[in-house]
Amino acid sequence: MMSRHQQRFTERYGPWAVVAGASEGLGAAFARALADRGLNLLLLARRSDALERVAAPLRASVEVRTSTLDLGAPGLAAALEERVGELDIGLCVYNAAYSRIGPFLERSRDELEQIVDVNCRGPLIAAHAFGSRMRARGRGGIILMSSLTALVASPRIAVYGASKAFNLSLGEALWHELGPAGVDVLVCCAGATRTPGFLRSAGARGPSAMAPEDVAVQALDALGRRPSVVPGWTNRLAAFALARLLPRRRAINIMGAETVRLRESPRE
Ligand SMILES: NC(=O)c1ccc[n+]([C@@H]2O[C@H](COP(=O)([O-])OP(=O)(O)OC[C@H]3O[C@@H](n4cnc5c(N)ncnc54)[C@H](OP(=O)(O)O)[C@@H]3O)[C@@H](O)[C@H]2O)c1
Repeated sequence: MMSRHQQRFTERYGPWAVVAGASEGLGAAFARALADRGLNLLLLARRSDALERVAAPLRASVEVRTSTLDLGAPGLAAALEERVGELDIGLCVYNAAYSRIGPFLERSRDELEQIVDVNCRGPLIAAHAFGSRMRARGRGGIILMSSLTALVASPRIAVYGASKAFNLSLGEALWHELGPAGVDVLVCCAGATRTPGFLRSAGARGPSAMAPEDVAVQALDALGRRPSVVPGWTNRLAAFALARLLPRRRAINIMGAETVRLRESPRE
């Protein structure tokens, strides 16, 4: 039996949600939280086996489709159109991101452009495609995943941080533009979160990070209430100190001291 809260959520953002980058970590947590709220799911990522592992247990409660898609590849608008077809999408979560750790000049230009493709061009195209559909039907929601790195420059993950600032600015502007048409836009500025990707790079700091489930639930609860959310009170405190309290130079140096500890460690 659906609670009233769940029912309101389904009416506003159902019947289908698409999660871009849903095969592990926060994307998988979003998929589970959305299934809990009764939405059918279209899950996208590059690895079909990993997508199936996320989808299988959810099929007991909702309809789930999976489709492989490289969100950084050219032709994304047409590929999304083809994957979505006639599904009535009421919510889009653009979660996927690509990151490379290391000094800017030591990364190849191809790698840095790939970050822009997946983290900036992807959400831009998804927001344009789903925003148009949702405006036409008069209701819907779009969640863009950003990060605390959007608030202050992040040495050694400079382009990743800049891409997250792009999402914060894009999403908050769309909150203003699309809200009156019934489309709620939310930017989620997550802090460190215990996803497989984060745990691979964070080493000993990993265990103290937030649980992906808590981040996903706090983002879904904030949708329709505000333009952006920072899940977790310690993250909100850090955000306030970094973005508002400290002199810019000091804030950047603190971020630099944090990111210097990150290690790139590929998936096994
Ligand atoms: N974890 C954190 O501490 C943290 C903190 C702040 C913000 N965030 C943000 O939260 C989001 C998720 O983070 P996460 O740690 O869960 O990331 P992750 O573990 O790296 O997972 C990213 C997801 O995106 C998919 N993906 C990556 N590149 C893709 C591509 N080119 N095409 C299609 N799918 C792609 C991956 O699936 P495939 O490999 O199967 O394609 C995976 O499902 C990101 O936007 C990140 O910036 C995370």
